[in-house]
Amino acid sequence: MARADRTRRGHALLLLLAAPCALAAQEAPARPQGVRVVVEALRPGAGRATDQRVDRLVALGVPAGTAPSALTAPGPFRVTWSGYVNVPLRERVVFVHEGEGTFALELEGKPVLASQGTDATRRSQPVRLAKGATRFVARATSNLRGELFARLLWEGTAFRAEPLPPAALTYDPEPALAEAEALRAARTRFALLRCAACHPPTQPWSADAAMPELTRDAPDLRDAGARLSASWVAAWLLDPRRFHPQSEMPRLLHGSDAEQARDARDLAAWLAGLGTAPADPAAAGPAAPAAGGALFARLGCIGCHQRPDAEGAAGAPDLVPLRHAAAKFRPGALAAFLRAPARGHAWTRMPDFQLGADEAEALAAFLAAKGAPPSAEAGAGDAARGARRAAELGCANCHALPGGTAPRAALELARLAQGEAERGCLGADAAARGTAPDFALDAAARAGLRAFVRTAAATLASDAPAEFAARTVARLQCTACHSLDGARDRWTLRAGEVRDLGADAAPGTPPAEGSVSQGRPALTWAGEKVQTDWLVEFLAGRSTERTRPWLHARMPAFPAVAAPLARGLALAHGQRTEAEAPPVADPVLVAAGQRLIGQSGGFACVTCHGIGTSEATQVFEAPGIHFRIAARRLRSEYYRRWLFDPLRIDPATRMPKFADEQGRTAIVDVLGGDAARQFAAIWHHLRVASRDR
Ligand code: HEC
Ligand code: HEC
Ligand code: HEC
Ligand code: HEC
Ligand code: HEC
Repeated sequence: MARADRTRRGHALLLLLAAPCALAAQEAPARPQGVRVVVEALRPGAGRATDQRVDRLVALGVPAGTAPSALTAPGPFRVTWSGYVNVPLRERVVFVHEGEGTFALELEGKPVLASQGTDATRRSQPVRLAKGATRFVARATSNLRGELFARLLWEGTAFRAEPLPPAALTYDPEPALAEAEALRAARTRFALLRCAACHPPTQPWSADAAMPELTRDAPDLRDAGARLSASWVAAWLLDPRRFHPQSEMPRLLHGSDAEQARDARDLAAWLAGLGTAPADPAAAGPAAPAAGGALFARLGCIGCHQRPDAEGAAGAPDLVPLRHAAAKFRPGALAAFLRAPARGHAWTRMPDFQLGADEAEALAAFLAAKGAPPSAEAGAGDAARGARRAAELGCANCHALPGGTAPRAALELARLAQGEAERGCLGADAAARGTAPDFALDAAARAGLRAFVRTAAATLASDAPAEFAARTVARLQCTACHSLDGARDRWTLRAGEVRDLGADAAPGTPPAEGSVSQGRPALTWAGEKVQTDWLVEFLAGRSTERTRPWLHARMPAFPAVAAPLARGLALAHGQRTEAEAPPVADPVLVAAGQRLIGQSGGFACVTCHGIGTSEATQVFEAPGIHFRIAARRLRSEYYRRWLFDPLRIDPATRMPKFADEQGRTAIVDVLGGDAARQFAAIWHHLRVASRDR
């Protein structure tokens, strides 16, 4: 999530809190949303002795062998969260610590909670939080193996225990924090720009422990001629950023304009000869652009892309232009790309919508009809010279190419650290760069990378799983479709742009009377809502059933990152990643649960939720998720939190609340009318009855 976004939201929250009193609004500094996390290594190894960052939650899970923070090495550590808890009105709360190891919480400098031990849950005395911001500091220490699981929850008079919500947390920005964040950003940039493809470490990193992004591939070019138009390739090589402002491919051509044009032509001619085009490229058949336009609107392409008929990328660096997309591909190859974007490029940022052939063809036809026509052919190039230039320029350092293309040799990473690191790729201008690639880095990015290669390159050997998740959510733009921590998703914000393309309504907005809600789930609690093994399958696109079959939108697949992303999301919430075992069947609870979900003498859950092989009986505007799927995927704690108060988690949900403030329900003759016991019985029934189905 962008820092600017956080700042804006923090600001809005603060204005809201100070609304009745204009004076307070002026005096109070506008604090950004988030919490400051300082990690101190107790046995400093390859990484820094202390590191800090901004996080979303007061929670952390660090399994042994992983780093607590990107810039420190694995091993025992202490972590300190600090910032402010913000409440709109005075509130009496109890704080709850869950986890292992030692933990302590202070509010305005006064201790309120201390706990120690394995898998402990410790509650504070009730505390009165004044309206507005209350300063807090929480500390935790890992065990000697460097493992820690910790979460801070709170419970109010009107709500049950829940993790401190990200939207209620703010922090003070400080120079030391900014410095660490800049170094961390440089580390990410180093991996994403594939610097190590040409500047490798002396000892190869261990693939299991190292920063996962270091293994990223670039598109396989062994079939480039079959897929790509030669004139587009030549234009791409002259300036990749013209087609994609966030391109991770550097500009490699240098010298005079004429020399560059010649290199581009020759390289394109060489690539054009690689691979064999499909025998019958026209097999695609004619598809209707209008159907493609409607799909473009319904699937949320606008969350990440410009419209194909939009001119230029000005002012929208985060959006990938599509104007040239159709002209880039040979006939039939665009539809093939849309059907399997990760083929030949596992780490592509374009997600896999698992489109049917007809859908991909319709989208391709739409992109071709609205986009720019193919540019004129670049003229015949010298393919043999192109092959030589490819070796000299280092194309094979990043791309898979036919066997004969040697990678380019450059300085080892350790040697970069010894020099001034102000020439070559980090040179300020063409003269300082010489024949090295041009990554279009601004002065701040160059300074960050310089500091990183000189002081912190060793931290690439390990990684913090929770930080991998945060980086990946940002890089893959999950917030194109999902709201997060109270910030709306970009699709909803940009929905107006595609209204003319046949979208029924702006997706994500409340449904019109009588229609089914098209609301998409928020990402805020994903790390503690669903079980990790389910999430791995879901993110990889291997789920056999759709969770919400009524949605026009579709969750696309991200197979390359599914496993580490799912794990990192859980650990960021201080949650364990092992599967929860189903309860041992208790016939009494199963029977009670069965009655409670039913229509006679129960809550009639089955009117909205399917169970077993039955579908929901009376879904009008509020279909619920099939219990077979819910039982398989939810964590039990989240299930409980949801049932006690669905509206607290999702203010727009149509799921009713069945428990009152005293923890009682309207069904008094089952389990004494006690909501906690009744909900447990339903869970028991769902987990046992839906097992193995
Ligand atoms: C395609 C290969 C390639 C990639 C990728 C690459 N470099 Fe380079 N780099 C070179 C070449 C070639 C030179 C020129 C000096 C040489 O021959 O080693 C160079 C030189 C440098 C130098 C100057 C070394 C000196 O002291 O003379 C630095 C610093 C540097 N690169 C950093 C980076 C960083 C940071 C990245 C990632 C953003 C990066 N490089 C990515 C090929 C590459
Ligand atoms: C530092 C790594 C790196 C080097 C070196 C590099 N590329 Fe790329 N290239 C990429 C990445 C990454 C992409 C994917 C697009 C993106 O991220 O912008 C790409 C995309 C491409 C594409 C488009 C492929 C597609 O299927 O969309 C072509 C063609 C290409 N590169 C050709 C070359 C040639 C020719 C060279 C050598 C002159 C070269 N690249 C050197 C990283 C690199
Ligand atoms: C979550 C963000 C996201 C969504 C949603 C998304 N894309 Fe993409 N798409 C990307 C990114 C990023 C790229 C650039 C590829 C890369 O960097 O690896 C891309 C690349 C493409 C390309 C190739 C462009 C080129 O110049 O190589 C096409 C075509 C495309 N997307 C079409 C679509 C369509 C059609 C949809 C809707 C069905 C869609 N995308 C939805 C992120 C997204
Ligand atoms: C093109 C839009 C789109 C993008 C991009 C997207 N999602 Fe989703 N996601 C959805 C939709 C739609 C659903 C609901 C699917 C269903 O329930 O059938 C969903 C569901 C989910 C769920 C299940 C949540 C729940 O409560 O059921 C998780 C977790 C999730 N997405 C995570 C991610 C992550 C992580 C990313 C980025 C790597 C991402 N999504 C990117 C559209 C998207
Ligand atoms: C009026 C319809 C309605 C009734 C009645 C109803 N629910 Fe729901 N339920 C919903 C809706 C809507 C959702 C949210 C679906 C979504 O996230 O998109 C939901 C979500 C859930 C979830 C989360 C499922 C998941 O996998 O994310 C659970 C668990 C659940 N309901 C249990 C129950 C139980 C138990 C009852 C009866 C005590 C019940 N519901 C009664 C409509 C209903």
